[in-house]
Amino acid sequence: MKRLAPSMLSADFAELKEQIQIIETSGAQYLHLDIMDGHFVPNLTFGAPVVKCLRKHSKMFFDVHLMIEQPEKYFNDFVSAGADLLNVHVETVDDLPEAVRQIHALGVKAGVTIKPDTSLSAVYPVLDQVDMILVMTVYPGFSGQKLIPEALQKIPELFRIRQNGGYRFDIEIDGGVGLQNLRQVMETGVDVVVAGSAVFGAADPGQACQEFLTIMQEYDRA
Ligand code: DX5
Ligand code: ZN
Repeated sequence: MKRLAPSMLSADFAELKEQIQIIETSGAQYLHLDIMDGHFVPNLTFGAPVVKCLRKHSKMFFDVHLMIEQPEKYFNDFVSAGADLLNVHVETVDDLPEAVRQIHALGVKAGVTIKPDTSLSAVYPVLDQVDMILVMTVYPGFSGQKLIPEALQKIPELFRIRQNGGYRFDIEIDGGVGLQNLRQVMETGVDVVVAGSAVFGAADPGQACQEFLTIMQEYDRA
């Protein structure tokens, strides 16, 4: 089943509990949580204590996107706070298989993420270990940017790699996805769609989720 992962980054942070309940009621399966440290990306967001507070109010799958240097230092904090999956940027770790192993050892799913200018080959060492590969289609740091078409092209390539190799990872896209380009995005074979401004920036975030999901369901495998 295709899954929608609204990114909390675009939500009203004074109303987080209500905002995430709206998207959950509207059918979103994942909550995408963007963790930024002001070093790996030029922006600063929130940490594990916020994830922990939200965990009490939601049953959604918590998809934590770590845009931080030395992410290994924080794996345990985010898992203890209630993360279901940790996505690490390949650019931030020296030993990717070891980072994936550490995440799995904490009992959650492991994802690896690549920036738009990072080659797909960076994830090859962990194709048979990861649960998720997240392809960034904007430069990480901010919501509301325009999707980079060249980065999108990596997804059909990854889809073919998965098919040919018999791998099991999900493919996730993050950055610049909206209702206006959703069909083009779904055609790539992606499984999980992150949407920040297109959901929380909409006049009615619940309705936006429903509109996303209606289109995405057309692409579910029979
Ligand atoms: C950007 C973040 C994204 C962001 C997406 O660094 O990783 O998750 O919230 O926002 P939109 O969907 O508006 O591009
Ligand atoms: Zn993200």
